[in-house]
Amino acid sequence: MLDKFPLKTLEEIAARVGTPVYVYSADVLLRQVRAYRRAFPEALICYAMKANPSGGVCRLLARSGLGADVVSGGELFRALRAGFPPGRIVFSGVGKTREELDFALAKKVLLINVESAQELEALEAVARRRGVMARVSVRINPDIDPRTHKFISTGKSGSKFGVSFSEAEVLFRRAAASSYLFPSGAHIHLGSQIHSAGPYAQAARAMAAFVRRLASAGIKLSYVDMGGGWGAREGAEMAPPAALARALAPAASLPGTRLIIEPGRSIAAPAGLLLTRVLYMKKSGRKDFLVADAAMNDLVRPAFYGSRHPIVPLRPRAAPAGSFAVVGPVCETGDFIGTDVAMRRPEPGDLLAVMSAGAYGMSMSSNYNSRPRAAEVLVTGRAWKVVRRRESRLDLVRQEC
Ligand SMILES: Cc1ncc(COP(=O)(O)O)c(C=O)c1O
Repeated sequence: MLDKFPLKTLEEIAARVGTPVYVYSADVLLRQVRAYRRAFPEALICYAMKANPSGGVCRLLARSGLGADVVSGGELFRALRAGFPPGRIVFSGVGKTREELDFALAKKVLLINVESAQELEALEAVARRRGVMARVSVRINPDIDPRTHKFISTGKSGSKFGVSFSEAEVLFRRAAASSYLFPSGAHIHLGSQIHSAGPYAQAARAMAAFVRRLASAGIKLSYVDMGGGWGAREGAEMAPPAALARALAPAASLPGTRLIIEPGRSIAAPAGLLLTRVLYMKKSGRKDFLVADAAMNDLVRPAFYGSRHPIVPLRPRAAPAGSFAVVGPVCETGDFIGTDVAMRRPEPGDLLAVMSAGAYGMSMSSNYNSRPRAAEVLVTGRAWKVVRRRESRLDLVRQEC
């Protein structure tokens, strides 16, 4: 499982940079990009920055020719700084402020995905003030169950995301009648960690029918954005994106439109691990605890989504195997990195790799319990470099006045 990360390199990183530390493999990131390119040779692939907005990762992905999907002014800022061309950036998100919309217009992003009638009005007002035409896309909630965790299911009616097909049609007509809005695209994002192509096929068929109906009403879109969410199970290879491409074919083959996809997790997750050191071992009742120096503030996914990341010792000892609760120093019972983790009993000081941690790891980290955030390292072959320094204690109070 650690084969993409040379053992000696990981040990050297831990010794020189300390732990916890996120380690990303440039080779794996580029391998994932190639897999997507093979499956989608014609599409615009916009990497979902929220998965991992680290400059080191994003610069590499921008150089590889990907576009970016951003969901805040902050992500747009980082995307531009990393080198994603504005013409390959799509701006999504349910609550974009007027300031963020204005920033996006100023930077001339490819598309702004609006998610409500009021946001469309706000975008029009901002575009009018600037005297420009906003290329608008409407995010549609197709009411399709992606069969994933409820916190990351976004395409079902009753979630806060997007508008129904019928409301979208009203918004497109409204945009078409405006001097400041140009209807350019339609967008669906079903959710995250979707492991079967079925929901995508259903969404693509519904989208294709909708775009054809709009075209026959005189509104011809240039882009059909089918979002991200293609699942990579923790510790497993990504399901081949060819299956996703087959499912999306109805949306990809619409005349005069280009397909956009927004993969995040499936590109970044397998490319990263969280390196942590065992601090202490203890028993409570019948449970064996392994207290590591990484905690829920570093990697919240296990506590938040119940995700199960494989956890492997870098150098397994010749000790009996056991089942451990891998917990961190944060003062919450919910602070765990793994429950029932099978491994040979380690010793304090041993290094553990928490696998498949390249997405929604560092990007969801916090300073909870006043813990400085971890460092980030990018490995290319046998070379490595720190792409984000570990925060210091002073960083914790730097913004206070
Ligand atoms: C609009 C949008 N696009 C793309 C993604 C990326 O999803 P994933 O990282 O699961 O591929 C998300 C994730 O929340 C999203 O909200």
